[in-house]
Amino acid sequence: MIEHKQHSTSTNDDARDVRYDHFDAIWAEQQSAGRGQRGHTWHSREGENLTFSVVLKPHFLPIHEQFLLSEIVALALVETLGKYSIECRIKWTNDIYAGDKKIVGVLIEHALSCERIERTIVGVGINVNQPTFPEDLPNPTSMFIEQGRDFDREEVLRSFLDALRGWYDILERGDKERVQSSYRKLMYHLDKPHTYYYPSGEGFTATIRGVRPSGELLLEHTDGIVREYAFKEVEFKIVRS
Ligand code: BTN
Repeated sequence: MIEHKQHSTSTNDDARDVRYDHFDAIWAEQQSAGRGQRGHTWHSREGENLTFSVVLKPHFLPIHEQFLLSEIVALALVETLGKYSIECRIKWTNDIYAGDKKIVGVLIEHALSCERIERTIVGVGINVNQPTFPEDLPNPTSMFIEQGRDFDREEVLRSFLDALRGWYDILERGDKERVQSSYRKLMYHLDKPHTYYYPSGEGFTATIRGVRPSGELLLEHTDGIVREYAFKEVEFKIVRS
């Protein structure tokens, strides 16, 4: 079921309501308090994009494997945009980039009970038909900017839900290897030296070699040692181009 509404504070908050079941989606044209990663706000011009949340109930997945859900969401998004001839890569953990610009943001939240994942809320903001963005956003793009035409947003949403179902089935069948290797291959900056930053602001050069099954980023430093970083322990800085 897709519930399409005009206003919401945040569809991730709506999706907590127990009346929403596995694979239900809540799509809002406008969010008054859309949330992004790292405590940021998610801005999206009303009526031009897709801002929605999907409820999943991955009861089969142990808590320590929750990163696999981030991976399948990212893979489904890359697959969906690929159908519209927009080649994308995954900026760890799950930003979706077209070239060096962000086209999709994802905020995943889990409700845990004992050792299992009770409910996962997959919040997705896809920049679809927005032609311009505020100057203060680091490096946004949209499907419109990439392809020079408008897209049917409901069709894009349905394509994503189909792709997500496909990847979810693969995961539920237990083919974690396929999920992990597919994610790795699509990582932004994979095997290319780049500058990364510690939260202190100190920069260093390193090369992405992959990601641990539990989600930590594997960075090879210039001394040849591969070190692993949890979310928030390392940052990519995006320079507006
Ligand atoms: C990011 O910072 O990149 C994540 C952005 C996630 C935005 C989406 S829009 C739909 C859902 N509801 C929210 O409040 N946030 C997510």
